[in-house]
Amino acid sequence: MKIILRILAVLVVLIAGLVVYVQVAWNKKFEAPYPDIKASTDSAVIARGKYLAYGPAHCGTCHVPMDKIMDVEGGELIPLSGGWELDIPPGEMHAPNLTPDMETGIGKMTDGELARIMRYMVGSDGRCIFPFMPFAEMSDADLTAIVSYLRSQPAVKHEVKRTEMKFLGKALLTFGAIKPTGTKGTPPKSVVIDSTAEYGKYLANSVANCL
Ligand code: HEC
Repeated sequence: MKIILRILAVLVVLIAGLVVYVQVAWNKKFEAPYPDIKASTDSAVIARGKYLAYGPAHCGTCHVPMDKIMDVEGGELIPLSGGWELDIPPGEMHAPNLTPDMETGIGKMTDGELARIMRYMVGSDGRCIFPFMPFAEMSDADLTAIVSYLRSQPAVKHEVKRTEMKFLGKALLTFGAIKPTGTKGTPPKSVVIDSTAEYGKYLANSVANCL
């Protein structure tokens, strides 16, 4: 009996230790380079960004309020003011406001910070961004186009709750099961937009995440 109690006591201490460790260690900061891109005001570049954001890169299916998602699916170009949410065991996820609003949107983020989130999953504060957006292999030209489009939107004031990790998400981050993955090689500077199998492969794998 005594032995069982002792084993139980050790288990309780171990589990309590693990819980405390995860609570302290989960919020790791990561380093990643800032992609060398600069938003453009060229209308062709912005048009390409808009096409990607509402088409193959589908930013519009998450970065809009929940009650607008079906409108976006139906082809409406609603500003990307954020709001999609997903409550799953690792955490309560919220897709932030991507319009240029200074307080509630991306107004204060640099082009490099925005591009780094898409390519490396590292947020402006160094945190690991939850892997909903595997755009690591997207070309520099397409990252530029998307950031240029985001900057060209009207600023919409829309406060979105921050993503909140639950214990499971914190544990996955603590033990490195979720971490910024980086790029496989050097992403292309640009790709030739044409009706080729090569371009189709790029769109399917590096932009639309059909993988
Ligand atoms: C499947 C849903 C989904 C898609 C598609 C998606 N995102 Fe996100 N995005 C999210 C979620 C959820 C977060 C918050 C993640 C977190 O806080 O860990 C996020 C965070 C971000 C952030 C960080 C903003 C901040 O304030 O820190 C940026 C920038 C971003 N997304 C840009 C984009 C762009 C650009 C696209 C399209 C090319 C896109 N996202 C597509 C769900 C999505």
